[in-house]
Amino acid sequence: MAELKVLTARFNTPNSADIDTYLKDGGYQALAKALKMTQDDVINEVKKSALRGRGGAGFPAGVKWSFVPRQLNKPKYLVCNADESEPGTCKDRPLMEYDPHQLIEGMAIGGYALGSNLSFIYIRGEYWYLISILEKAIQQARDRGYLGKNILGTGFEHDIIVHPGAGAYICGEETALLNSLEGKRGHPRIKPPFPAVVGLYGCPTVVNNVETLAAVPHIINKGGDWYRSLGTEKSGGSKMFSLSGHVNRPGNYEVRMGYPLMDFINEEGGGMRGGKKLKAVIVGGSSVPIINAEDSAKCNLDYESCQSVGTMLGSGGVIVMDETTDIFETTFNLIRFYNHESCGWCTPCREGTDWLMKIFKKIKAGMGEESDLDLILKLCFNIEGRSHCPLGEAAVWPITSAIKKFPEDFKKRLHVRKSLPVVSMAK
Ligand SMILES: Cc1cc2nc3c(=O)[nH]c(=O)nc-3n(C[C@H](O)[C@H](O)[C@H](O)COP(=O)(O)O)c2cc1C
Repeated sequence: MAELKVLTARFNTPNSADIDTYLKDGGYQALAKALKMTQDDVINEVKKSALRGRGGAGFPAGVKWSFVPRQLNKPKYLVCNADESEPGTCKDRPLMEYDPHQLIEGMAIGGYALGSNLSFIYIRGEYWYLISILEKAIQQARDRGYLGKNILGTGFEHDIIVHPGAGAYICGEETALLNSLEGKRGHPRIKPPFPAVVGLYGCPTVVNNVETLAAVPHIINKGGDWYRSLGTEKSGGSKMFSLSGHVNRPGNYEVRMGYPLMDFINEEGGGMRGGKKLKAVIVGGSSVPIINAEDSAKCNLDYESCQSVGTMLGSGGVIVMDETTDIFETTFNLIRFYNHESCGWCTPCREGTDWLMKIFKKIKAGMGEESDLDLILKLCFNIEGRSHCPLGEAAVWPITSAIKKFPEDFKKRLHVRKSLPVVSMAK
């Protein structure tokens, strides 16, 4: 087992969500340390750590923080993306449930680095039960002087507001999230301008995933170099992966970045269920290209290695499929999801995913022809890079990769029904 417990170290501590146990375990020392550093030094430490955003895109966190124009005479905001909508991904949930102070401390440090007095946790509607846990922890932090005015007597002020969403996948996209937070419909905004310059209420805003922010106290406590050394040169640290599908032990596991995917499946996951053969893996949550067993053997759990086998690390939802899986059905399930979750704002995504659904339904009914596979690929080509936000890409990457890697699962579905069933009208 190569489990590496940094973010998850306190998950089994009794009363881990309580501030007293957090303080006993060394909590809030990183905040005290950060407040003695300059804002630039805090940002540089995060840059040094090679911490890449854990929400999916993998953008370097310290670099994003450095884009905020701190000299601008406007409020600055930090927004924690706790929407966790990616199918297959459920790692932010335990981070908030078992160690809310780790996140709160990371947010207070981030707030200090950005010159922000107020931050928000935008949490998905279905995580209703976590709101009271977070709010209790925030109040405890206020009562002990780790949030509010004049934090630890330094004059720095920062507070956190928890804001529930209504449960829409698109509201995980950072600009749709900001619209939703402002009380508007959760439609994505055009980028640029990027939120770091024009974000919440038109002010500079950093949006970071829960896991990204939870890593910050460890980086400040032990240093950026230490954090980077846990992973690879370009993908520093450890990461939580949500393992699901045909394995013996599905669950959330934290491992070092760069850990081999097959070791993860065999060691942490306890191997394939029923001793069956591996057929396919979706490494980063449902929105990344599907890979086959051959690619999986070459893939390590870091951004660069995933890219080298034609996929992405995404948010780290590792979905494992054995030899009995019909990839046509997998893909049909995914396009149904993306079609349902398309916000309808732009034509390529709205009409394209609708059209794809129609072709998939036709093939499933046994009425598919060879030309339908060409049409699917043509439609995917016309959605990719042409939609208003990356939901379009998320919808088509699993499909195009599935047709490329598992053509037999699609071809065997074609020309199954030679004619429409004859129904007698006479009675
Ligand atoms: C359709 C869509 C859904 C997304 N859902 C989430 C989500 O649930 N949680 C999340 O942190 N990021 C999500 N993202 C990524 C965010 O837009 C953004 O990149 C991220 O919150 C930035 O934080 P990070 O740099 O710490 O990863 C989504 C992106 C897209 C396009």
